[in-house]
Amino acid sequence: MSDPIQRANDALKAQQILAPVSRQAAAEGIVLLRNHQHVLPLLPSDKVSLFGRCQVDYYRSGTGSGGAVNVPYTVNAVQGMQNNQSINLNQELVAIYQDWLANNPFDDGGGGWAAEPWFQHEMPLDDNLVSRAKSISNKAVVFVGRTAGEDQDNALTKGSFLLTDTEQKMIDTVCAHFDQVIVVLNVTNVIDMSWLDEGENRDSIKGVLYSWAAGMEGGDALADILSGDVTPSGRLTDSIAYQLSDHPSDENFGSDVRNLYVEDIYVGYRYFETFAPEKIRFPFGAGLSYTSFSKQLNSYTVEGSAADAVLHFDVLVTNTGNQYSGKEVASLYVTAPQGKLGQPIKALVGFNKTSTLAPGESEILTIRVPAHVLSSYDDSGVTGHKSCWLLEAGDYQFSLGGSVREAAHIDACWSIKSTLIIDQVSEALAPVIAFERIKPELSEGSFSLGLEAVNTRSIDLEKRIIDNLPTSYTITGDKGIRLEDVKQGRAEMRDFIAQLNAHQLATIVRGEGMCSPKVTPGTAAAFGGVSDELFQFGIPVAAASDGPSGIRMDSGHPASQVPIGTLLACTWNTELNHQLYTLVGKEMQANEIDTLLGPGMNIHRHPLNGRNFEYFSEDPFLTGKMACAQTLGLKHAGVSGTVKHFAANDQETGRHHVDSVMSERALREIHLKGFEMVVKEGEASTIMTTYNPVNGHWTASSYDLNTTILRQEWGYTGIVMSDWWAKMNHCVSGGEESISFTSFMVRSQNDLYMVVENDKAEHGGHNDDTLAALDNGTLTIGELQRCAMNICRFIIDAPVMQRPLKAYEPIKPFSPKSQADEHAILLESNTPLGTKNNTTRTIRVTQAGVYRCSVQASYEKDSLAQSTCSLLINDDFAMTFSLNGTEGKTQTVEGVPIRLEVGDYHLQFNFVKPGLYLDSLTLVQS
Ligand code: BGC
Repeated sequence: MSDPIQRANDALKAQQILAPVSRQAAAEGIVLLRNHQHVLPLLPSDKVSLFGRCQVDYYRSGTGSGGAVNVPYTVNAVQGMQNNQSINLNQELVAIYQDWLANNPFDDGGGGWAAEPWFQHEMPLDDNLVSRAKSISNKAVVFVGRTAGEDQDNALTKGSFLLTDTEQKMIDTVCAHFDQVIVVLNVTNVIDMSWLDEGENRDSIKGVLYSWAAGMEGGDALADILSGDVTPSGRLTDSIAYQLSDHPSDENFGSDVRNLYVEDIYVGYRYFETFAPEKIRFPFGAGLSYTSFSKQLNSYTVEGSAADAVLHFDVLVTNTGNQYSGKEVASLYVTAPQGKLGQPIKALVGFNKTSTLAPGESEILTIRVPAHVLSSYDDSGVTGHKSCWLLEAGDYQFSLGGSVREAAHIDACWSIKSTLIIDQVSEALAPVIAFERIKPELSEGSFSLGLEAVNTRSIDLEKRIIDNLPTSYTITGDKGIRLEDVKQGRAEMRDFIAQLNAHQLATIVRGEGMCSPKVTPGTAAAFGGVSDELFQFGIPVAAASDGPSGIRMDSGHPASQVPIGTLLACTWNTELNHQLYTLVGKEMQANEIDTLLGPGMNIHRHPLNGRNFEYFSEDPFLTGKMACAQTLGLKHAGVSGTVKHFAANDQETGRHHVDSVMSERALREIHLKGFEMVVKEGEASTIMTTYNPVNGHWTASSYDLNTTILRQEWGYTGIVMSDWWAKMNHCVSGGEESISFTSFMVRSQNDLYMVVENDKAEHGGHNDDTLAALDNGTLTIGELQRCAMNICRFIIDAPVMQRPLKAYEPIKPFSPKSQADEHAILLESNTPLGTKNNTTRTIRVTQAGVYRCSVQASYEKDSLAQSTCSLLINDDFAMTFSLNGTEGKTQTVEGVPIRLEVGDYHLQFNFVKPGLYLDSLTLVQS
C-alpha cells in the first residue's frame, strides 16, 4: 500500500470536492408533501422556533453496514439553519434544547451492532415553554426522527412506525400555540402519518417535509430548502398509504420461515392505483415545489418497428410561477392492455428532470421508451408463449406526471396488432411451492382482486446443469504466465488459469475479512491474490468496502457520507447520482478501494423493511435507473459498485433463512428488473447475492439465478460474491444449508465466498467442501476454473491492477517514542486490558524483535453482529481487531506481527464499533 500520509491527503481532497455535490443531492431528494398557505419557504421576516431533539441529533444515515461510515463531521439541522443567513431562529429555544440534551445524551444502545434504538426520547414540552416560544416567533418547525438498519425490521409500534406518546404530545402542544407548523421527518423509512388528521388543531400543520437521512451535509441541505435558496424538487419513490395494513404485501411480510409474494407484480402503486386508489395518502411520485410548472407533450414519434421500436416523447416543461426558480420531474406511465396476463393500471416507463428553470423559462425533456421496457413476462403460457417477454396485442396508452395519481393521459398511443415477442428465454427459478397470486378481474368498469394459481417448476435442473458444464482445462502448473500478461493480451485467460492447481483454485474463491491487513485498513474484504502462491502468479489483492452511502472503514479512518439511497432516488436525477458516485469513486481511489458494496437495490416491498433506506424505491424501473447512474458514476472514476442484494432480500427478520417465494413473473418484472437493467445498461461488473433463499434455493448457490438468468440470458461476465458469511444449499434439490457448501456455490457460479477469516483462505476457509467435492466428482475442475476466471477478469480491470504490484508485508515496523515514559509498564507477554471502552497503555520493550500480536476478546452478541477495535502505536495506525459475536465466549483475535525496537510505545485502543470486550493483549516474540 502507498504512503498513508499521501493517501490521507488525497482522501481529504476528494472529500472536499464531494461535499457540495452531496449537499446538492441532499437538497434535491428532500420531498415537500404539504405547503399550505405558502408556509415555506421561510421569509427573512419570519422567526422560527425549532422543536424536537433531532434538530441536534440529526440522523445522517441508518445503522449497520449501510450506515457505518466514520464521517469527519456532520452538519446537523440547527447548524445548517444557523449557517444560513436568511433564517432567523429563536435562539432561546435552541439553548433550552441544548441544555436538555447535555443531560439527556443520544442513546446509541451502547454503540453495538443493531443495538441503537429506532428513536430517541423526546424532551417533554409544557404549555409555558411553547407559549413563550410563540410570543417571540411566528413559525414552528417540529423534527421527528427515526433510524433503521440491518438485522432488524422496523415495527408497527410507537417509536418505530408510529409516533411515541411524547412526540404526539409535542405536535399537539406546538399546534395548540402556533398556527404555522412545519413537520420535518428526519427518517430512514416512511412512517405512519395519521397524526396529520388525528388530534386537535391539526390545521396548524401547514408544512410537511420528508428530509430523510441526508448524509453529513444534511443540515445545510435542509436549510437550503427551508430558506428557499433551493426550491424543492424531490418526489416520493414509494406510495404512502393511510394504514400499514393497506399494503398488499402486509399479510405476507415478517415471517421468519417463508413469505409468499401473493401480491405478485402488484407492489406499491401498481397495486394501489389498480385496486385501491382510496387507500393512498400520498401517491408514488408526490412532491411539491415553491413554484408551478406546466408539462405538455410536444411530440411523440416511434422510431423503428416491432421489438426494435423506440418511442420518443418530447415534453415541454415550463416554470409558470413568477417568483422561484426550480427543477421539475416529468414521469411517463404506460397503461397496457389487460390482455391475458393482466396489468396494473399504470407502470412507470420513463422519466427525466429539467435543469433549474427561472420563472417563465422552458425546457424540452426527451423520454425514450424502447419496446422491451413495455414488455411483460409470461410464466404460465397463457398467451401461448411460455417463458417469453412480450407485448400483448392492443393499445398502449401513456400518461404524464408528476405523481402517478396526477399523471394525465396524453395523446400518444402505440397499437400492437398481434402479440409482439421481445425475447424467448427459458423457465428459471420458478417456485416449487404451489400458491395463488393476485390478478385483476374487471367488473363494472373497475378492477377487483382476483386470484390465480402460480406455475411451479417444470424443468429438470440437474440436466440443465450437467448439459452446461464448462470445459475443464488440464492443469499445467506454472508456465510463467502472469496476470499482467493476460491484461496486455500476451496470453489467454484460460491458459493463465490452467496453471493453478486445485488447492490454489479453492483458495481464490475465498475472500478474507473483515478488516484484512492485506488491503486498506478497516474494509470489508480482501480478494484475489490472498495467498503467497496466488500472488506469485501476479494476482494482486483487491479491496471491497461498504457501501452504499460512503466508504466504511472500521479502522476509524474518515470518509464522506452521502445521503441514503431512498433520498437519492427521490431526486429523480440520474445525472446528479452519476456525478455524486463519480466523486465517491475518486475517494475510493484515494483510499485504494476497488469496489464499493453498493448500490443496494432491493425493492421496497413493505415499509417496515429495516434496510429500505439503503434501497431506492418500490418501483423496479426507477430502481434500475438509479442503480445504473451510480454504477456508471463509479465506473467513470475507475472503480466499481457491487450491486446488492441479488435478489429479493426484502426484509431483515430471519434474513438468513426466510424463503422469498414468488412467481417467475414477479421475480423477473419486479425483483430482478433493476438488476437486469444495471447489468445491461449500467455496466455492472460485480454483484452480491443475498443471505436468504428465493424459491427454496439460497441465492449464493442458485444456479438459475447466477447462471441461467444472470449470465446466459443477460450476458453478464462479471463477478458474483456471496453476502458475508452466507449459507448455501444443494443446487438441484435445495434442502439443508451451510456456510461450508462452497461446492454448490461454485457450481451455481457465485464466484466468491465472502468471507473467511484473515489469512485463512489458503487453509480451507470454514472447512468448506470445495476440494472434497472435486475428489468425489460432484464438482468439476472446469467449474472451479470458471469462477477463477470470472474473478481474475474482474481484477484485470480493477484499479488494483494499476497500482504497483506489492507483496503483502506481514510485519509492520514501529519506532519507540523519542523519550522514555515514566508510566511505561514492562512488556510482558500478556497485558491485561479488561475494557469495553477506549483505553491506552504505555509499554517498555527491552528486547528488539518481531512480536506476534493478538487480543483475547469476547462479544455478547450472536455470530452475525460485528464489532471492531483499532490499535494505534505511537499515534500510527497499527491494526484493527474485528470480532463477530461470540455469545460471550472469549476468543483470541490475531492481529498482525510487528517489529519493535527497544524503547517505550504508547498503545491506544479505539473502539470504532463498540460492543466487544477486550480482556488482554498478547505480544509474544517470534
Ligand atoms: C450485509 C452486506 C454488507 C456486508 C459487508 C452484510 O452483513 O448484508 O450488505 O455489504 O455485510 O459489510
